[in-house]
Amino acid sequence: MKTTKLELSKLHEKIDPIVAMREQWYLVTAENDGVVNTLTAGWGALGNLCEKQTAIVYIRPQRHTKQFMDASGRFTMTFFEGHQQELLFLGSHSGADMPDKIEQSGLHSATVDGQPTFEEAKLVLNCKTIYSDALKPENFTDETLAEANFPDKDYSVMYIAEIESAYEVTQ
Ligand SMILES: Cc1cc2nc3c(=O)[nH]c(=O)nc-3n(C[C@H](O)[C@H](O)[C@H](O)COP(=O)(O)O)c2cc1C
Repeated sequence: MKTTKLELSKLHEKIDPIVAMREQWYLVTAENDGVVNTLTAGWGALGNLCEKQTAIVYIRPQRHTKQFMDASGRFTMTFFEGHQQELLFLGSHSGADMPDKIEQSGLHSATVDGQPTFEEAKLVLNCKTIYSDALKPENFTDETLAEANFPDKDYSVMYIAEIESAYEVTQ
């Protein structure tokens, strides 16, 4: 696994976030006390806030990975070329029930800047949370969206994070 640090101002040359998130998905991964957990995500955004390059992820409260994100204040976003079977596996098994789900997925753990990611990655964003809040049903201007997407009222927590570094990965 070879990593090349990217200039954040050139990140747009390496990723179309809408296509990558909607169609290819990505992993949100966090570590705490030496333990790593990950989940597959499809919602999210890359942008600009407080003059920092930022990423947004939306994590439902019951996700095991959320505990790791909250405890460490950090997470990585890992994008792949292919590997959708593995992402489907990681997105349908919880680390709460299957602590070795990463090993079982077929992907291989790795670190970049000390943060957890995967050898098979194409692009890794190292993220530090700067703001978080749960989506509130009363704040949806179209209430049918809240009903359709959160029938169990498990409103996602929005994590806005500073992208501290980004790496392109080649195998
Ligand atoms: C394609 C796909 C996209 C997903 N997107 C999200 C998401 O954006 N936010 C979220 O909280 N869960 C999302 N999930 C569900 C989690 O990945 C899934 O519940 C996972 O098993 C949680 O693992 P954990 O409990 O170990 O954290 C998605 C699942 C799939 C398959």
